[in-house]
Amino acid sequence: MASRILQDAWDYEAETEKKIRKEERPGFHLSSRVGWMNDPNGFSFYKGEYHLFYQYYPYDVHWGPMHWGHAVSRDLLHWRYEKCAMAPDMEFDKGGCFSGSAVTLPDGRHLLLYTGVIKETQPDGSVRDIQTQCAAVGDGIEYAKYPENPVITEKNLPAGSSRYDFRDPKIWRKADGSYRLVAGGCTVEGDGQILLYSSPDGVQWQYEKILMANNGRFGRMWECPDFFVLDGYGVLLASPTDMLPEDLEYYNGNGTLCLIGAYEEETDTFKQQYDQAIDHGLDFYAPQTMEAPDGRRIMVGWMQNWDTCNQHVSGLPWCGQMSLPRELSIVNKRLIQRPVRELENLHGAQVKYENVVLSDGIRLEGIRGRKVDMEISLRPGKEGNGYRKFTLYFAQDAVYHTAVRFYPEDSVVELDRAFAGSRRAVVHQCRTRVQSSGGKVKLRIILDSFSAEVFINDGEKVMSAMFYTDLSADDISFAADGQAVMDIVKYDLCEM
Ligand code: FRU
Repeated sequence: MASRILQDAWDYEAETEKKIRKEERPGFHLSSRVGWMNDPNGFSFYKGEYHLFYQYYPYDVHWGPMHWGHAVSRDLLHWRYEKCAMAPDMEFDKGGCFSGSAVTLPDGRHLLLYTGVIKETQPDGSVRDIQTQCAAVGDGIEYAKYPENPVITEKNLPAGSSRYDFRDPKIWRKADGSYRLVAGGCTVEGDGQILLYSSPDGVQWQYEKILMANNGRFGRMWECPDFFVLDGYGVLLASPTDMLPEDLEYYNGNGTLCLIGAYEEETDTFKQQYDQAIDHGLDFYAPQTMEAPDGRRIMVGWMQNWDTCNQHVSGLPWCGQMSLPRELSIVNKRLIQRPVRELENLHGAQVKYENVVLSDGIRLEGIRGRKVDMEISLRPGKEGNGYRKFTLYFAQDAVYHTAVRFYPEDSVVELDRAFAGSRRAVVHQCRTRVQSSGGKVKLRIILDSFSAEVFINDGEKVMSAMFYTDLSADDISFAADGQAVMDIVKYDLCEM
């Protein structure tokens, strides 16, 4: 039997979603059914379909007491909403059901692990969140919280750990049938750490060790960790808060981090060798991965940024969307991301040009739109007559545009939404360095109504950003400073 709080959420979301027309949402990215969305949660394949839950507050377009929203898909692009899976309705989570993950139990039930938040009055009268890890089981539609919750508490924390920042369990099942989870946390001084726990059954948990300590390198608290083996490496993802910038690799604020290294399965030992940001755009946070039945490691992130997510007021009763699901691999010690191959099934008409010589701004017949998958290969013009800058404008009309630029001399790609319609003094540009020699670069840009994801050099780097320009601004144009030559293949992305 659903609690009153959960039943209210079911009623509210079913009623309120009627106010949102299909055209007012992204076409193939998951957006919140109603209200507010942040982190992806419980990304998993269960009973023949992909399940993606999310941090959810149905009643407002701003963050509030966290529920879990729920959507299901066969192809990671067409999503069907299910009822809200969890609401903050128990003693152990009445301050919110924070982020977590999912796994299928041997008896066929779907296990969710999440962070239960409660408010606690401190001796000085202030109120702090206390975070513990909780479990719920269900059938892919309805979920019952485990009566013995919480399953991991402050008693299972190593000495010197904060009990206020301890969250976002990510579970996986090992080959021997036992379970592990990583949770994000920090020391009492506020320095990020990833904690490892083990369990025989998914509900009885034992603390193992600190899998990785920040030691002051990347931001403060590490949120939303994920750990998996990919192409022979151990890969640890985390989302550090309060980052300082580092060259063009890490930006200020909440960032994303990928640590790649050696993993010894028997002892769960991870030795980090390489680090990088996951996405170099403006809006990407708290990614989570899952292993698809065909073995692909697929990642989805929240396509927003905590410092700017409240600047947008659309007037519609939904706010927040996920990134495109991305296939991951490790090549030359780096994380490579490609849009899921299912996207090709949405390809409509192809428009293709080769050897287009760009100097002044040009438009090309057949190249426009706000739901588009296009790949551009650039090279300099005649020998000795290269180019200093290439610009692609999109979501463009006489007043607005968003731009991707490439500066061959510095091998830098820039994403710029300053002219997308924002009236706020927040960050609108970001830049990243890419591999490029002789002025050559490949840019694959995926537009879906209000978002752009730029996959550079077959996934070497990705830059994601939201922009809220009116949908009627759908021109695309090109310009070069000097002479650049471009091949372009463009598909409209259609609904099926
Ligand atoms: C990350 C995060 C998580 C937390 C959730 C709360 O964006 O802060 O650490 O579980 O959001 O909504």
